[in-house]
Amino acid sequence: MQVLKTGAEWQKIWLQSLQSQKIIGFVPTMGALHEGHLDLIRNSKKSNDITVVSIFVNPIQFNNQEDFDNYPSLIKEDLALLEKENVDVVYLPDPQSMYPEKPVLSMHFGDLESVLEGAFRPGHFSGVGIIVSKLFNIIRPHQAFFGQKDLQQVAVIKRMVKDLSFQTEIITVPTRREEDGLALSSRNLRLSKEERDASLILIESLNLAKNELLAGKDWLAVRNQIQQKFEDEPLANLEYFELINPDNFQVIESIAQSKASSICVASYIGNIRLIDNLPIIP
Ligand code: PAF
Repeated sequence: MQVLKTGAEWQKIWLQSLQSQKIIGFVPTMGALHEGHLDLIRNSKKSNDITVVSIFVNPIQFNNQEDFDNYPSLIKEDLALLEKENVDVVYLPDPQSMYPEKPVLSMHFGDLESVLEGAFRPGHFSGVGIIVSKLFNIIRPHQAFFGQKDLQQVAVIKRMVKDLSFQTEIITVPTRREEDGLALSSRNLRLSKEERDASLILIESLNLAKNELLAGKDWLAVRNQIQQKFEDEPLANLEYFELINPDNFQVIESIAQSKASSICVASYIGNIRLIDNLPIIP
């Protein structure tokens, strides 16, 4: 496994891989790796000759300084995990080389970001769009792998790839969960025992809402029921619980309103902000 600090080092390997017609898979991460990341890597390894993983905690996608300052960093453990997965290349740029100057560019994703994460985290998707563009320009992968847990991020990136004609295919990998249903996230590492127990309210609410919807209950009544559930949990502070059309990320009020639908949730559990989502398949 090669650990690279600069795009120039990768450029040499990329040129050789081009000559030998190797297909490149890419998994961008912010580190603190868990089984969810490993699923992305395993998927990449299945369909690519070379798998590149980047680890970079991207400062410009955090709208909250405290969240950035406390984002877990476990480089030694991450490298050991990647080595075990037989990853070919790890790209570990430092912030100064990635952003010699604060970018003047900003990205806007119109209606795709007017709700949910886009509404609650102003500037977040601009930061994601800029770093993913930079990484795609440096790595030039054939395929890139993203987790379905960040459903709106996937929609934004797919649209960016289309609008900017990136030659990278975006592959979405299902959310990996703990046995009790909690979606894996690097932020889970920061939950106390009590918060970890309370965090189950996200998946329990998603499952409950899905079952009620499929049983024919009206969405607004379901949402009220769930909001009450969150109010009753002292460690939780709900930001949103919405039914959306995953094709355009517009909020809907009935599953009959679009071909596909998903329920998305974001809530603080103590000081930790968690998100999750569940597709509704009638
Ligand atoms: O999903 C993430 O971990 C990040 O948003 C990403 C895609 C690595 C960009 O920093």
